Amino acid sequence: MTPKLISCLSIFFALLAALASTNFLSQHTLFLKLTPQTLLSSLPFIVPTLIPWAHHHHHHRHPADERKTTKTICDDFPPDFPPPDTNTTSVFCVDSNGCCNFTTVQAAVDAVAVMSLKRTIIWINSGIYFEKVIIPKTKPNITFQGQGYTSTAIVWNDTANSSHGTFYSGSVQVFAANFIAKNISFMNVAPIPGPGVVGAQAVALRIAGDEAAFWGCGFFGAQDTLHDDRGRHYFKDCYIQGSIDFIFGNAKSFYENCHITSIASPVAPGARVINGAVTAHGRASKDENSGFAFVNCSIGGTGRIWLGRAWRPFSTVVFSYTSMTDIIAPEGWNDFNDPTRDLSIFYGEYNCTGDGANTTLRAPYAQRLNDTQASPFLNVSFIDADQWLQSYYS
Ligand SMILES: *[C@@H]1O[C@H](CO)[C@@H](O)[C@H](O)[C@H]1NC(C)=O
Ligand SMILES: *[C@@H]1O[C@H](CO)[C@@H](O)[C@H](O)[C@H]1NC(C)=O
Ligand SMILES: *[C@@H]1O[C@H](CO)[C@@H](O)[C@H](O)[C@H]1NC(C)=O
Ligand SMILES: *[C@@H]1O[C@H](CO)[C@@H](O)[C@H](O)[C@H]1NC(C)=O
Ligand SMILES: *[C@@H]1O[C@H](CO)[C@@H](O)[C@H](O)[C@H]1NC(C)=O
Ligand SMILES: *[C@@H]1O[C@H](CO)[C@@H](O)[C@H](O)[C@H]1NC(C)=O
Ligand SMILES: *[C@@H]1O[C@H](CO)[C@@H](O)[C@H](O)[C@H]1NC(C)=O
Ligand SMILES: *[C@@H]1O[C@H](CO)[C@@H](O)[C@H](O)[C@H]1NC(C)=O
Ligand SMILES: *[C@@H]1O[C@H](CO)[C@@H](O)[C@H](O)[C@H]1NC(C)=O
Ligand SMILES: *[C@@H]1O[C@H](CO)[C@@H](O)[C@H](O)[C@H]1NC(C)=O
Ligand SMILES: *[C@@H]1O[C@H](CO)[C@@H](O)[C@H](O)[C@H]1NC(C)=O
Repeated sequence: MTPKLISCLSIFFALLAALASTNFLSQHTLFLKLTPQTLLSSLPFIVPTLIPWAHHHHHHRHPADERKTTKTICDDFPPDFPPPDTNTTSVFCVDSNGCCNFTTVQAAVDAVAVMSLKRTIIWINSGIYFEKVIIPKTKPNITFQGQGYTSTAIVWNDTANSSHGTFYSGSVQVFAANFIAKNISFMNVAPIPGPGVVGAQAVALRIAGDEAAFWGCGFFGAQDTLHDDRGRHYFKDCYIQGSIDFIFGNAKSFYENCHITSIASPVAPGARVINGAVTAHGRASKDENSGFAFVNCSIGGTGRIWLGRAWRPFSTVVFSYTSMTDIIAPEGWNDFNDPTRDLSIFYGEYNCTGDGANTTLRAPYAQRLNDTQASPFLNVSFIDADQWLQSYYS
C-alpha cells in the first residue's frame, strides 16, 4: 500500500470509529440489524479511544508517523496494568488488539484457577468480542468489568435450532456461583424471528449460578434475550431489550432502576394483536420460592405486549414503582391459555405509572397489591442480600 492509500484508509477508519462512538453504539436496536460478519469486520475500529487518529483528519501523513501511531495503540494502556495479585483478588486483562494478557474473554475464563476462593476480575477493554463464552460451575467468583454497556460487548448468534435448544443458545452462559458483571453488554445478533417462526429463540445471557449481580449491563436480543435461569440475582441500572418472553427462567431476581425496551413490531392503534411479553417466569410449584421483582424500572419501546405470561403454573412476577407506556396490553398478563393456572400464578402491580399501568381492564387474576402484600418485593431482602450482595460492595 502506498502512504497515500494508507492515509485515506486512516480517514475511513476514523469515520468508522467516530460512527462507532456516536450513532452506532447508542442506537441500541441497530445492533440487531448487523450481521456477525459486519460486527467482526468492524472489530478493530470500534475502539476509538485506542485509535489515536480517530479524532483527527491528517491528509498528508508521513509513513514514519504511521509507524508511530500504530505503535501507540497499546501505549494508551494504564501503566502497570493489570495490577499484581493480592491475597483476595486477581486481575486479568482482555483486549482484542492484543495489548494485554488475553485477546478473548473465554481465554481469560479458561485461565482462572478452578474453585478459586479469590475473586478474579476479568477487565475487558472497549470493543466487540465476537465469541461464545461459557463459565463452568468450577469457576466461581469471576467478575466481568467492561468499559460501559455501549462500549464493551460480547456477541454471538446461536439460536435454539443451531445449539440443541434455547437453553444452549446463550452468547454467554454462566453456570458458576458468585458471578458479577459491570458495565458490559451481552448480545445475541441472530435474525429477529418473523411471526410464527420456530426455533429462532436466541439467548444473549444465561445466568444459572447463585448469587450473581449485574450493574450497568446491557442485554440485547429479540426472543428470549435474558435467561434468568436459577439462583438469586441482582440487576441494577441495566438495559434489557427483546420482544417475546425476553426475561425468562426460574430464578429469584431483583431488578432495580432497569430500562426495559420492547422491539416487537409496531402494532396499529386499536388492533387487538399481542406480539410479545416482557417476562415468562418459570416457577413450577408452590414449594419453590423463585420470582421476579421489578422496582423503579421503565418499560417502553414498540409492539403490544404483556407484562408476563405463565410459562409454569406458579409463575411469580411483581412490578412496583415502574413506568409503562401504552405498549402494555390492557389485560396486562396472560395465563398461557391455561385457566387452571389462574389460581396459582402470582402477578402483582404496585404503585406503577404511565398509560400502560392502568389496571382497569386487567386480567382477573392480576393483583393490585396493597402495602403489606408488596413489601417483600420492594427491596433487596427479596434475594437475601445480607447473605451475599452486601459483601460485593466492599
Ligand atoms: C492477607 O490476608 C490476611 C488474612 O486473610 C490478612 O491478615 C493480610 O493483611 C492480607 N495481606 C495483604 C497483603 O493484604
Ligand atoms: C497479565 O499480564 C501481567 C503484566 O504483563 C502479568 O504480570 C500477569 O502475570 C499476566 N496474568 C496472566 C494470568 O497471564
Ligand atoms: C468464592 O466462591 C465460593 C463458592 O461459591 C464462596 O463460598 C466464596 O465466598 C467466594 N469468595 C469470594 C471472594 O467471592
Ligand atoms: C451466525 O453468523 C454466521 C456468520 O454470519 C453465519 O454463518 C451463521 O449462519 C449464523 N448463525 C445463525 C444461527 O444465524
Ligand atoms: C460504569 O461506567 C460509568 C461511566 O463510565 C461509571 O461512571 C460507573 O462508575 C461504572 N460502573 C461500574 C459498576 O463499573
Ligand atoms: C428450525 O428448524 C425447524 C425444523 O428443522 C425449521 O422448520 C425452522 O424453520 C428452523 N428455524 C429457523 C429460525 O431456522
Ligand atoms: C429510579 O430510576 C431512575 C432512572 O433509572 C433513577 O434516576 C432514580 O434515582 C431511581 N429512583 C430511586 C428511588 O431509586
Ligand atoms: C405510591 O408511592 C408514593 C411515594 O412513595 C406514596 O406516597 C403513595 O402512597 C404510593 N401509593 C400507593 C397506592 O401505594
Ligand atoms: C383506564 O382505563 C379505563 C378503561 O379503558 C379508562 O376508562 C380510564 O379513563 C383509564 N384511566 C386513566 C387514568 O387513564
Ligand atoms: C392487604 O391484602 C391482604 C390480602 O387481600 C389482606 O389480607 C390485608 O388485610 C391487606 N392489608 C392492608 C393493609 O390493606
Ligand atoms: C426490606 O423491607 C422489609 C419489609 O418492609 C424490611 O423488613 C427490611 O428491613 C428491608 N430490607 C432492607 C435491606 O432494606
